[in-house]
Amino acid sequence: MSEPLRVVIVGGCGRVGLPLGLVLATRGCDVDLLDIDVRRIQQVNAAEMPFAENGAAPLLQQVAGKSLRATSDASCLAAADAVVTVVGTPVDRHLNPEIHDLYRSVDSALKGMRDGALLVLRSTVYPGVTKLVYDRVQHLARKIHVAFCPERITEGKAIEELVSLPQIVAAFEPAAQAMARALFARMTPKLIELQPLEAELAKLFTNSWRYLNFAISNQFYVLAETYGLDFNRIHDAVTCDYPRMRAFARAGFAAGPCLLKDTLQLAAFSGNNFFMGHAAMLVNEGLPNFIVNQLRGPGLGRKTVAILGMAFKAESDDPRESLSYKLKKLLELEAREVLCADPYVPDPELVSVEDALAAADILILGAPHAVYADLQLPPETQVVDIWGFWRHTAGRHDKMAHSVS
Ligand SMILES: NC(=O)c1ccc[n+]([C@@H]2O[C@H](COP(=O)([O-])OP(=O)(O)OC[C@H]3O[C@@H](n4cnc5c(N)ncnc54)[C@H](O)[C@@H]3O)[C@@H](O)[C@H]2O)c1
Repeated sequence: MSEPLRVVIVGGCGRVGLPLGLVLATRGCDVDLLDIDVRRIQQVNAAEMPFAENGAAPLLQQVAGKSLRATSDASCLAAADAVVTVVGTPVDRHLNPEIHDLYRSVDSALKGMRDGALLVLRSTVYPGVTKLVYDRVQHLARKIHVAFCPERITEGKAIEELVSLPQIVAAFEPAAQAMARALFARMTPKLIELQPLEAELAKLFTNSWRYLNFAISNQFYVLAETYGLDFNRIHDAVTCDYPRMRAFARAGFAAGPCLLKDTLQLAAFSGNNFFMGHAAMLVNEGLPNFIVNQLRGPGLGRKTVAILGMAFKAESDDPRESLSYKLKKLLELEAREVLCADPYVPDPELVSVEDALAAADILILGAPHAVYADLQLPPETQVVDIWGFWRHTAGRHDKMAHSVS
């Protein structure tokens, strides 16, 4: 039997790194997850998932302490055949890409790596960053191969999608391209080759396209609501047996750690001339404001508002960039009290769904978790369901439903 491929994943205990490590560890790789989060490292080594991800727990049980280890000790880099880094390049509040964290992490990876190894950038990066990293390696006179192989999974479906979605593979040199191909061919049968800049844009186009798509629906939702009309009745009508409208999303909070950030990166790359992206940001980020505007009236200051679902999307425990939290902040300025519930998000300030329902004058669905489907909604409570999730619930004349990556 051939020797296992030795892989180090920098940022390996996170939502991108850990699923990748789990899949590689079951496919002939010996994986070290290099991370700075001591708690997550301990959890992973104890075969305990630090966050929810379908199908990940049994894989972790199978490989923890065998073909997969978590560590904060960078000495594991020295023996690696491939180092995958998931540290990204967010944009700052002035839309400038922040590349210093990535540089710092790449520099320390390079220091520990042996010549001849492969360095894979896996996070979404600002276009041109792979070239900057490649130039940095040349400048340091290191013989390390550089590739950009973007992550395209959706949280919650990572284990299934890593082995089924095609993998984009990009490098400046044939040797790096061949090594990246060999690594990802262990996971998925279909590889697509692009130039690095093309691949960087491919990833940003994917997420921005989704973000714009949701914005169209959210804009239509606002338009229909403004005229007192039920967006979901119109959505049901135009998508019924009409294939050209298949991509028409339902309305809902388009949030999470990637869609807005990646649209912002593309806006920055376009010299702030990504008009449709900017418009999409206004629409999607404006949805909580629209809800508050609809609710605003002389009585709001005397009312208790409950938000059900604080994760950024249904069935997730991830609250990063969740618009439910933005809504909470806005309402706290205007309502008597705001109570928030979520069965999955670890936040000590949350209350139980029962307590939220008992106290609420107004109930807003923040994330349409399946467990909320059969809730008995008190008849006197005003319900705001932008998702259309409860639209078929008996007795609800819901006016104010989609799935976000
Ligand atoms: N979550 C997704 O679905 C998704 C999909 C595609 C791309 N991305 C991008 O991938 C990147 C990582 O996202 P995530 O969701 O895994 O985040 P995460 O916060 O879950 O994980 C990041 C991990 O990196 C660790 N870390 C941070 N700096 C480090 C360093 N210098 N050295 C070692 N470890 C370090 C953190 O402790 C954490 O465990 C982001 O840039 C994100 O935009 C995320």
